[in-house]
Amino acid sequence: MFLQFNSSTTLEKTSKNSKAKMPKWETDSPAMVGGNGVYSYYRNSYYQRKMVGVLKERINEVIATKVDFSYIPLASNTFHLADLGCSVGPNTFYHFHDLIEAIKQKYQLQGFASHMPEFQVFFNDQAMNDFNTLFTSLTQERQYFAAGVPGSFYDRLFPNSSLHFVHCSMSLHWLSKVPEELLDENSHAWNKGRVHYANAPNEVVNAYSSQFAKAMENFLNARSEELLTGGMMIIVTLGIPSGMPFSELPNSLLFECMTLSLLNMVKEGLISEAQVDSFNLPFYTVSPGEMTKLIERNACFSIERMELTDPAPWLDGPVNMREWVVHVRAAMEELFSKHFGREIVGEIFDRLIKELTDHSHQLESKYKEKTLLFIALKRKRFSSKST
Ligand SMILES: C[S@@+](CC[C@H](N)C(=O)[O-])C[C@H]1O[C@@H](n2cnc3c(N)ncnc32)[C@H](O)[C@@H]1O
Repeated sequence: MFLQFNSSTTLEKTSKNSKAKMPKWETDSPAMVGGNGVYSYYRNSYYQRKMVGVLKERINEVIATKVDFSYIPLASNTFHLADLGCSVGPNTFYHFHDLIEAIKQKYQLQGFASHMPEFQVFFNDQAMNDFNTLFTSLTQERQYFAAGVPGSFYDRLFPNSSLHFVHCSMSLHWLSKVPEELLDENSHAWNKGRVHYANAPNEVVNAYSSQFAKAMENFLNARSEELLTGGMMIIVTLGIPSGMPFSELPNSLLFECMTLSLLNMVKEGLISEAQVDSFNLPFYTVSPGEMTKLIERNACFSIERMELTDPAPWLDGPVNMREWVVHVRAAMEELFSKHFGREIVGEIFDRLIKELTDHSHQLESKYKEKTLLFIALKRKRFSSKST
């Protein structure tokens, strides 16, 4: 499926390595709701699209000023891009339309208009993602060849030095795994009666942050092998100003209302206390300071740009709780369904709308401005992990 860029010696090494290390791709984070029904991600991912939409100018600027195509080798005149955590669409299609336009413009600016490459986009998500919906909605008018790559982006997904550009939006806050200590009654990080680290003791917060650090280490190690020197990676993820407690963000209200709904259901005998105690959301919101340390520790990427920006949906006026919960459901239904049972999921989300509506006044005091983290990284030429 892939073009091989390396010498024959490396080719042999690469194929041996990939055989030996082929991952099992198990994660605690299930895929988004597939298909295009009322609760599908396809129909309920407008918030995510708007968030990345506000960054279009910044992404174009990074491509125009930070990428130098004269130094990036192309095999068979093909430019390889990957979307990590693409889901079922349609957001990924909008992102790649814009990205390829910006890359073409840069080629023209660098005087390579007559040598415009062909574009190959690899759509990656977990194996359980609804790739059928994704590929049946690909438009004929697209300017790239498309391929699907199943598997966790916390593992290797592509051959050595085979990618020119990586994009990963609204996906990296999903941890591959919930920290084990949260389930251990004997640990100070036992997360009884909560579903997240929002308003939790430091031990719980630290368990999440260590888990995120491990996940990022895997993510960056894998990408450092896969990206060519000079190749770019754009990451857009949920963010928080350094030092700010999570309880100040709008999502803390969401998670608290989830907990309240679940505990009320325990009181009514609809679910058990043990089920709530053993349920934890695999989400982490990172600060620029933390992210910088993790990237510097990896040492394979230069940080071309990193900043917190304003996420549009929060700042566009009053939040419609029903609409918010439908977006949350499209992303989390499988998580709840796996743990509490498919038959009770509708009840959980209906109660969540009510709980959020009852607490909606608390949203006003939450910090909504700089809560989207934009990162542009470039694969360095020399580093401890140079290929
Ligand atoms: C909220 S969606 C974002 C989709 C799309 N990038 C967008 O901007 O709308 C997050 C996606 O990340 C995927 N994801 C989460 N963890 C992943 C992992 N370890 N490997 C690959 N995909 C993952 C989920 O399956 C989901 O499709």
